[in-house]
Amino acid sequence: MTTMTRTENVARELKPKGFTIWMTGLPGAGKSTLANLLKQKYENEFNRFVEVLDGDEVRKGLSKDLGLSKEDREEHARRVSYLAKVLSRNGVVSIVALISPYRKSRESARDVIGADRFVEVYIKASLVACEKRDPKGLYAKARRGEIANMTGLQDPYEEPLQPDVVVDTESSPAAQCVELLTQQLIDKGLLRHVEIR
Ligand SMILES: Nc1ncnc2c1ncn2[C@@H]1O[C@H](COP(=O)(O)OP(=O)(O)O)[C@@H](O)[C@H]1O
Ligand SMILES: [Mg+2]
Repeated sequence: MTTMTRTENVARELKPKGFTIWMTGLPGAGKSTLANLLKQKYENEFNRFVEVLDGDEVRKGLSKDLGLSKEDREEHARRVSYLAKVLSRNGVVSIVALISPYRKSRESARDVIGADRFVEVYIKASLVACEKRDPKGLYAKARRGEIANMTGLQDPYEEPLQPDVVVDTESSPAAQCVELLTQQLIDKGLLRHVEIR
């Protein structure tokens, strides 16, 4: 047992620290799927406020003016970082599901949000697997030449060199990926089961 008083304990549990789970990975790697599963779990089992910042959704609301060039993707990531920052500094668990193909953008996100509340999670699946899944049919469209700038085909994806967590969605089913990631967040002291004594 720690030496915290009961009051300190209760206060800490009532006002937990916000943080950002920054999920990066190829289209079809499983970012949105896992983000939504995590949201349900953290709301229900950890009693946290959770916001999913999904790349495509945020684009509609905040980045309508941006396209898919390197500069625009970086600007989009910058805006999402800012949102994640203001949410997580107010106790929210922000789950960012964004391809964020450039290392530089992800490094800037860590700086903006603060390293103590930023967890870079590489949602890992091979291009072959992602293209086979093709949940939105975008790889097929890109192959047919109907869309350009498809990450993994025409556009680069810079794999994280030292992500905080790697979740391999090819070797584990989604439920197992959720458990693995959750355990890592508990180990880092960012999540804890609430016990008000
Ligand atoms: N372990 C896993 N984690 C997440 N998604 C998985 C996993 N295994 C298979 N899938 C499937 O892969 C697809 C991922 O799509 P999606 O979550 O939209 O990807 P992204 O948001 O990264 O583009 C879904 O059809 C999902 O059911
Ligand atoms: Mg998605």
